[in-house]
Amino acid sequence: MSTRQIDNFAAERIRSYDAKSAFIGYRGYPCQTCLSVNDEVVHGLATERELKFGDILSIDVGVVHKGFIGDTARTISVGGCSLAAQRLLDVTEQSLYLGIAQARPGNRVVDISIAVQQYVEANHFGVVREFVGHGVGRSMHEEPQVPNFDEGKKSSPKLKPGMTIAIEPMVNAGRPEVKILKDGWTVVTQDGSLSAHFEHTVLVTDGEPEILTWVKPSGSKPE
Ligand code: MF3
Ligand code: CO
Ligand code: CO
Repeated sequence: MSTRQIDNFAAERIRSYDAKSAFIGYRGYPCQTCLSVNDEVVHGLATERELKFGDILSIDVGVVHKGFIGDTARTISVGGCSLAAQRLLDVTEQSLYLGIAQARPGNRVVDISIAVQQYVEANHFGVVREFVGHGVGRSMHEEPQVPNFDEGKKSSPKLKPGMTIAIEPMVNAGRPEVKILKDGWTVVTQDGSLSAHFEHTVLVTDGEPEILTWVKPSGSKPE
C-alpha cells in the first residue's frame, strides 16, 4: 500500500478515539502522521509511493486527547528486511529503552542523552543531532529539549516527578548527518544510509518511569 493509504487509515483510527492529530497544521505540516521510508529519518510526508517488501517504515503519531498530547514512533519492516536493517531497528529500539530507564528523579536530561548515544555508537551507528526529544503536554514541543547525544553543556535540567517528556532516538546506519528535501519537510540521511526512529512519551514519577504511549504491538484498542 501507499503511505497515503496508511495516513488515511491513521486518520480514521485517531477519530475513533475522539482524538485529533497533533501534527496536521503544526507549522503548516500537511499530514496526519509522519511516514518515513528507508533513508528518510523523520517528517516523511504521506505520498502515493508504494511500500515494497524489505522497506523499513518509521511511523510517528501524535494525538491530542482532552487537551493533552501523546507522541510516539516506531520503525517496522515491510514483511521483513535484511539482517543489517533489522539490527538498526533493534539497536534504535533498545537505545530508547536505555534512555527511558534514566528518566528518574535525581538524574538529569543529559543522563538520558548519554545512555542513548553510548549504546548507539558502541554499535557503530550514527545518532542524529539536528532533531531532539522534548517535553510534551498541552503543546507538542515543550521544555526541556531531550537530545540523543551529550551536548557537552555545563548544566542540564534535573528530572522531577510529574515531568512528561518524549524520548526519541533517530539513528542512521551510516553517518549521523541529515538534510531536508525540497518538499520542506522530509529529513533524509546525507549518505543515503537507512535510518530508524523510536519514540515514547514518558512520565517521570517518584519511582519507575511510566511509558504513557505503550500499546500492545497489535495495536488492539484498550477497553
Ligand atoms: N512527532 C514529531 C516529534 O516527535 C514532530 C512532528 S512535527 C510535524 O517531535 F510537523 F511533522 F508534525
Ligand atoms: Co513524534
Ligand atoms: Co516527539
